[in-house]
Amino acid sequence: MKILVVGGAGYIGSHMVKQLALAGNDVITLDNLSYGYKDAVKYGEFIEGDLGDASMLDSIFKSGDIDAVMHFAGFIQVGESVIKPSMYYHNNVINTHTLLDAMLRHDIKNFIFSSTAAIFGEPDYTPIDEAHIKQPINPYGHSKLMIEQVLDDYDKAYGLRSTCFRYFNAAGADPDGELGERHIPETHLIPLILQAASGRREDIKVFGDDYPTDDGTCVRDYIHINDLCDAHSLGLQHMIKHDRSDRFNLGNGKGFSVKQVIDVAKRVSSNDFKVTTEPRRDGDPAILVADASLANKELNWQPKFAELEEIVRTAWNWEIDYLCKQ
Ligand code: UFG
Repeated sequence: MKILVVGGAGYIGSHMVKQLALAGNDVITLDNLSYGYKDAVKYGEFIEGDLGDASMLDSIFKSGDIDAVMHFAGFIQVGESVIKPSMYYHNNVINTHTLLDAMLRHDIKNFIFSSTAAIFGEPDYTPIDEAHIKQPINPYGHSKLMIEQVLDDYDKAYGLRSTCFRYFNAAGADPDGELGERHIPETHLIPLILQAASGRREDIKVFGDDYPTDDGTCVRDYIHINDLCDAHSLGLQHMIKHDRSDRFNLGNGKGFSVKQVIDVAKRVSSNDFKVTTEPRRDGDPAILVADASLANKELNWQPKFAELEEIVRTAWNWEIDYLCKQ
């Protein structure tokens, strides 16, 4: 298959490009490098450009027989979305709409969308299944849910099929050591802990220890990046075979508190480091754990990285073998 991966130079996109290419697909990455890295695109063709550039999209779609588009070029920082909602609605909604309409002009009808657990907001119950009410509490979550709604309507009106994956906490790195997580600024828990473990950061700050959880810190469901990519590959085949749109929650189904993640990182790295407690970060739900049984049943998807320790080990290898050497 020929697949356009929008945002293929970013964390999730670059792992996806590698997996698709190694499976024998013809892959084109489109990325404006605002957050991605050109050297993270190790497979296929690379085009530098913006998903909001309709004429450039027309020329890409005109020149090739693209079978499907995967979209990973969303802005992802919850806190930033609260301060700069315009930026989030522009990129995540308006630019995605431009991409979808370009697909329609060229009769490309298969779309995979990177959605998020943030569409559920503060959960009413956990683990969270697909039927859970969607009530985002920040512009980031709203922007992703808006596109899910657009996609429902485009399916009915235009026959554009889409699969939306609501990620819980994507984590870990390519086990081959070729790719990993590189966000600037880094806001995610596991890479920050590992920076403390390698000595690149003075300490790790725990945002709140007074949540209604066993040890008082927030509980999250960490899912390895390659397991996420597996679900996308299976989702694409499933969408084409059944000619229909689907939405899936993706996680391991197991929750780990911030303190538990820190303990795992200390074991994996064999290093001790300073841990300090800070006030709660705005907008953090106490517990977010996925019920991914629908993806398991429909896609026959099963995470291969079942243990948090294995996930953290891949991220630790990336920290010491790549990031510490930059
Ligand atoms: N945390 C700390 N200290 C830090 C960083 C994070 O204690 O230095 C805590 C957070 O408060 C949270 C947990 O670690 O409780 C995980 O935080 P992350 O920032 O790693 O991840 P989030 O759960 O906030 O965010 C993830 C995705 C987002 C997505 C969100 C949906 O990374 O893109 O889930 O709720 F929007």
